[in-house]
Amino acid sequence: MPTATYSRRRGQLETYFDRTAVDAWKRLTSDAPVGRIRATVRAGRDRMRGTLLDWLPADLHGRRILDAGCGTGALAVEAARRGAHVVAIDLSPTLVGLARDRAQDDPATRTIDFRVGDMFDQALGEFDHVVAMDSLIHYKATDVVRVLDGFARRSRHSMLFTFAPRSPALMLFWLAGKAFPRSDRSPAIEPIAEDALRRAIARDPGLAAWGCGRTLRVASGFYTSQAMELVHR
Ligand SMILES: C[S@@+](CC[C@H](N)C(=O)[O-])C[C@H]1O[C@@H](n2cnc3c(N)ncnc32)[C@H](O)[C@@H]1O
Repeated sequence: MPTATYSRRRGQLETYFDRTAVDAWKRLTSDAPVGRIRATVRAGRDRMRGTLLDWLPADLHGRRILDAGCGTGALAVEAARRGAHVVAIDLSPTLVGLARDRAQDDPATRTIDFRVGDMFDQALGEFDHVVAMDSLIHYKATDVVRVLDGFARRSRHSMLFTFAPRSPALMLFWLAGKAFPRSDRSPAIEPIAEDALRRAIARDPGLAAWGCGRTLRVASGFYTSQAMELVHR
């Protein structure tokens, strides 16, 4: 069951990604020129997506993958090109519409099953791999672990996700962000200490059959995010 903090944050994210940030997000995830700061973010995000895709099997034929919080669908597209059957879900109908349009050009990606909704939805069925790139970074650690617990019930092999690592630099950004009026900024990112996250994962009964695998931090200018792999023991 989603908690009150999860539901509140999900509502804020839906408004932000479906209205406030649509144009910026559309541009950032395209080849269109962007300013210097956004270019560092784009480069970092490209590296992160490449990392997560590298952690999936090279041949994805016959594999079912959930792209949880797919945004404009870049990861879903790459996974589908490698043969996966992809379900890609996001809260934002506008971003899902854009992702669907972008996937139309290639017969390999036209098969992606795009959905508007909550990645927590248990009715989405079972998957070989679940990938959540930068879609959990706005949730509190307890809610992140709860979502992972939900994914674990319907994942067979691995769950890949990213979190915002708690570091002095990121905490400075985070505190600086608090100085801006709420309407001007995205819902806060929730920095999480890696040790605390590992302990919370180890304590969660629903994740008892899962262990932390690879982890990698990507820092590129204004983008910092850390990938983590959970594998079925
Ligand atoms: C920072 S964007 C990342 C999008 C995409 N994964 C990427 O890396 O390009 C975060 C996305 O997660 C989506 N999101 C956040 N919470 C979600 C939820 N509970 N269910 C589905 N999507 C969610 C947002 O709508 C947003 O599009």
